[in-house]
Amino acid sequence: MPPANVRIRSAELSDLDDLVALEQHSFSSDRLSRAQFRRHLDSDSAKVLVASTGPHRFLGNAVVFFRKRSGVARLYSIATHHAARGQGVGSALLDAAEQLAHRRHCRAMRLEVRADNHGAVRLYERQGYRRIGHAAGYYEDGGDAWRYEKLLARPGA
Ligand SMILES: CC(C)(COP(=O)(O)OP(=O)(O)OC[C@H]1O[C@@H](n2cnc3c(N)ncnc32)[C@H](O)[C@@H]1OP(=O)(O)O)[C@@H](O)C(=O)NCCC(=O)NCCS
Repeated sequence: MPPANVRIRSAELSDLDDLVALEQHSFSSDRLSRAQFRRHLDSDSAKVLVASTGPHRFLGNAVVFFRKRSGVARLYSIATHHAARGQGVGSALLDAAEQLAHRRHCRAMRLEVRADNHGAVRLYERQGYRRIGHAAGYYEDGGDAWRYEKLLARPGA
């Protein structure tokens, strides 16, 4: 369970500074730029979710991509502030991303994760993701990725 007062909401323009700062701290390559975040805020094919407490305290974010006529959503990115880790914020963001994909009639969520990112792999496997493949040299710095998938429950199931 995330801390009781954590709220997951859509990102807004006023979140851009926090989004870019967290991206810088969390990833050493394949980072989203400010301009990319800005574009995703207005896009039908992307959703940026933010975990926050109160109106200002920014705890983390997740970025989900959708493609027209595809029943598969893609979790592009997820990160939580160092000080907020291990408290269920990442799990809450992942839950919210899956619910969003489900509401948009997606049957599955897919993602790539660095093969040596054991913390993230644990989070995904605990939340029901299944390893479906490997991508050698997937990242800009040559790092390998695992591909994961989770089938989302059908409406009414
Ligand atoms: C991966 C990441 C998003 C996980 O976020 P998080 O907020 O720490 O995730 P959670 O708190 O939901 O789960 C992490 C751990 O906390 C534990 N936890 C969850 N809720 C908890 C709670 N209420 N109290 C204490 N611990 C809790 C979980 O059991 C889990 O433990 P484990 O690592 O031993 O399995 C975060 O570590 C991160 O931002 N990493 C850097 C960016 C990154 O690598 N992103 C993934 C790219 S693919």
